[in-house]
Amino acid sequence: MKVLFLNGPNLNLLGQREPEVYGRATLADIEAKVRERASELKVEIGFRQSNQEGELVGWIQEAKGKFDVIVINAAAYTHTSIALRDAIAAVGVPTIEIHLSNVHAREEFRHKSLIAPVCCGQICGFGQKSYILALEASVDVKDRVK
Ligand code: DQA
Repeated sequence: MKVLFLNGPNLNLLGQREPEVYGRATLADIEAKVRERASELKVEIGFRQSNQEGELVGWIQEAKGKFDVIVINAAAYTHTSIALRDAIAAVGVPTIEIHLSNVHAREEFRHKSLIAPVCCGQICGFGQKSYILALEASVDVKDRVK
C-alpha cells in the first residue's frame, strides 16, 4: 500500500513559523515520524511540499494508479483553491484532509474548506499527530470508491 503526503504553501517554514500555532517540529521532523509509523504499518510513503498550487495539482493528477491514498495539508489553499478540489474529484484517489491546527477554532476564513466535500474526511487540531492519525486512517479508506 502506498500513501502520498502533500503539503501546501508555507509548510516548509514549520519550526520557525508561528510556533505557538503550529508547534516547533519542522516538516522534516514530521516526515521522519510519518516514515517511522509507516514502516510499522508496512506502508510506502511519498512526502512532498510545494508553495505552488499548480505543482500540487500536478502531483494529485500523477497519483492516480501510483498511490492508494492521498493525505493533504493544503494549508491556505484549503480555503481558496477550486483547482485542488477539482483535481481531487477528478482523479478519484481517496483523499484525507489534514491540518496541524484546529482550523474551526481560528479565524472565520479558515472555517471553510473547499476540498472537504471531495475528501473522505478531515483531521485537524492534533499538531503533528494529525499526520500520524491520517496515516492510520489511510489503511481503512484505501479501498473506498468515491
Ligand atoms: C494549516 C491551517 C491553514 O488555515 C493555514 O493556512 C496553514 C496551515 C494547518 O496545518 O493548521 O498554512 O493547514
